[in-house]
Amino acid sequence: MRKILVVGDLNVDVIISGMTEFPELGREILCDNIQTVLGGSASIFACRLAQLGAKVDIFGKVGNDENGKIVLNTLKKNGVGTERVIIDDALRTGVTVSLTYPQEKALLTFTGSIGALTPSDIKPDLFRSYDHLHVSSIYFQPKLLDSLDEIFMEARNHGLTVSLDPQSDPLGEYNKIWSILKNTNIFLPNEREAKEITGLSSLNDALSKLSLTAQTVVIKRGSRGAIGRTEEHIVKVKALKVNPVDTTGAGDAFDAGFIYYYIWKKQTFKRSMEFANAVGALSCLYTGGAEGKITEEAALKFLDEASKQVGS
Ligand SMILES: Nc1ncnc2c1ncn2[C@@H]1O[C@H](COP(=O)(O)OP(=O)(O)O)[C@@H](O)[C@H]1O
Ligand SMILES: [Mg+2]
Repeated sequence: MRKILVVGDLNVDVIISGMTEFPELGREILCDNIQTVLGGSASIFACRLAQLGAKVDIFGKVGNDENGKIVLNTLKKNGVGTERVIIDDALRTGVTVSLTYPQEKALLTFTGSIGALTPSDIKPDLFRSYDHLHVSSIYFQPKLLDSLDEIFMEARNHGLTVSLDPQSDPLGEYNKIWSILKNTNIFLPNEREAKEITGLSSLNDALSKLSLTAQTVVIKRGSRGAIGRTEEHIVKVKALKVNPVDTTGAGDAFDAGFIYYYIWKKQTFKRSMEFANAVGALSCLYTGGAEGKITEEAALKFLDEASKQVGS
């Protein structure tokens, strides 16, 4: 495998933590920390994939501003190729403000440059140098959404395999996804997204329904692990034991672990699910989606230790 191309959201996350209560209109409350870090499902995915050892380029837009510089510098520092990123003077880089509490978080997003990608930005020859395409956060990219089925078909015609993490639709509509899934090799929603997309309340039913259209489906279940299906082969993994500090980007880290093992290293479906589960769990130990460095060696060591604990 030569290289993976990631298309999607590049933005910063402003993570606010250590509040004892929820902010209220007309009052001021204090917090322990505010950090600006790389955000965006696609950029976090790309960083984790590069940390694991794959060659990866990212494509998307940022504004010509300080937040854009944070995005590009963090991607580069992690070894992600950024030559294709469009820096647009007319845009401001997207920002997600994350009010982080021990069990939950409240998110507020200014899409800015995230929503600016258009189908004409994606030239067919973009796919020439790659073997796999991963797209994330399609509902924050409304201009791209209508054409994604064709873009995926174009990528497949160029010989690429395609993976998709939809992320949630803020409007809760999840429209247009079925025609996109027809050209998706690997679909990676979380449990809520899988149920909302299918309109089914049973996880197994949602998995079966999605599997009728997408070739391989992996549903992430937070602290309950993950379940996946490829053809008739179903694999369930229980979450590995960690004390989470921040679960931002756990799903993207899981995706990176899965694509790294299944696509880049051509491992079995079961082994790839286990490896992804370890990368997802390890990512919960860092504040911010792409912070720390999760290597293949670290994930394998963690997986090995976790399996000994289960066995004892
Ligand atoms: N509390 C946790 N303990 C252990 N692993 C976790 C935990 N939260 C998430 N993970 C791992 O990360 C994966 C993705 O997390 P999830 O929250 O389901 O995704 P998303 O961020 O897309 O909502 C899970 O399937 C699991 O492997
Ligand atoms: Mg997710």
